[in-house]
Amino acid sequence: MSEDIEVTNIVVLPGDGIGPEVASEAVQCLALMSDRCGLGFRFDEHDFGGAAIDAHGVPLPDSTLEACRHADAILLGAVGGPRWDKSKERPEAGLLALRMSLGLFANLRPARVIAGLEAFSPLKSAVAEGADVLVVRELTGGIYFGAKEDGADDASDLCSYSRHEVERIAHVAFRAARERSRKVTSVDKANVLATSRLWRSTVDEVSAFYPDVRLDHLYVDAAAMALVTTPTRFDVILTENMFGDILSDELSVISGSIGLMASCSSGADGPSLFEPIHGSAPDLAGKDVANPAGAIASAVMLLDQGLGMPEQAQMLSNALEQALLEGCRTSDLGGAFGCAAFGDRVREILEKSLVRQMAHLQLIRMNRGCCG
Ligand code: NAD
Ligand code: IPM
Ligand code: MN
Repeated sequence: MSEDIEVTNIVVLPGDGIGPEVASEAVQCLALMSDRCGLGFRFDEHDFGGAAIDAHGVPLPDSTLEACRHADAILLGAVGGPRWDKSKERPEAGLLALRMSLGLFANLRPARVIAGLEAFSPLKSAVAEGADVLVVRELTGGIYFGAKEDGADDASDLCSYSRHEVERIAHVAFRAARERSRKVTSVDKANVLATSRLWRSTVDEVSAFYPDVRLDHLYVDAAAMALVTTPTRFDVILTENMFGDILSDELSVISGSIGLMASCSSGADGPSLFEPIHGSAPDLAGKDVANPAGAIASAVMLLDQGLGMPEQAQMLSNALEQALLEGCRTSDLGGAFGCAAFGDRVREILEKSLVRQMAHLQLIRMNRGCCG
């Protein structure tokens, strides 16, 4: 790497199961982009989740957390697996601790039915066509982080939210809607839950700052139904931690497969975390059959939202979409491509467009040279 290029430090947490397989494909895409465009990306891999329990006894070792704190962006594969389901330390606890330690309260999960790929959806094409939804999920509050009591005969998980927690995530959703179709649907269970009533009234108050954005409210059960009957009625879905977890898995298959969906988790400051929304898929691990598209799409979000490189993000996104459109598909989408072969094809397409772009830039420079 030439010395005058500033280094961009990307911490990679491959994790467990298919995590390392899909993360590797995403990293190779970023590395190609960095090599060809001189972006100076450096990849710094750390143990996390079950792999970290095996190596260090805990799912989020201090060294991993420190590396994440100092990263420019973090890329995660997935964590978890049956091997650790009965162990005292759980891989998933590492993910929750990482989110909380870095203050990553805003989780963005976009899903879109790509024109020409409506047949991927289990919904009728006429229903799925044009669906383009962003889930804005609150990520550091609610039932995930309330007091817990584990017991043989009784157990409880406390769900609590403060006005501040709801306000800050609501602002994220309204601002995101301004970049899209200017509609927010807030999803809660205000007919039953006190936290949802606070959620609803706070979202109403925040909406006053965004008169140009339409707001409606849905109960979560009705929202689950509307997602499959009329997904196109949604633009931005704003919801709390657990409802967002569940609804985003439902949404992911509307565009074809959970293997396609990416996410970005951010806080008020510091690095953001980028990861596919799927888990470690123990049924697929080690077989080179997982779909790496969600991980590569997470790399797109990393370039765009993590590093402020929208042009590079668009090029990688185009390469990913073109690979899918030309028939390159893993088995979850009915194809026969392996995980690595899919990644290779995305990079072949990306390489060609990078070469075209460099030739174009050279032509502009030559024209400037001869005219100026
Ligand atoms: P999962 O997302 O791993 O798998 C659900 C289904 O989707 C499975 O049939 C799987 O084969 C399929 N699938 C998932 N990713 C795929 C991909 N990239 N390509 C093709 N098919 C894919 O969810 P699960 O089975 O409920 O959980 C397995 C483990 O993963 C658990 O330990 C869970 O806690 C963990 N998990 C981790 C994360 C994360 O790290 N962010 C997210 C969800 C689940
Ligand atoms: C996700 C996962 C996590 C969650 C688990 C693994 C803790 O399902 O990122 O969607 O529930 O948030
Ligand atoms: Mn989930």
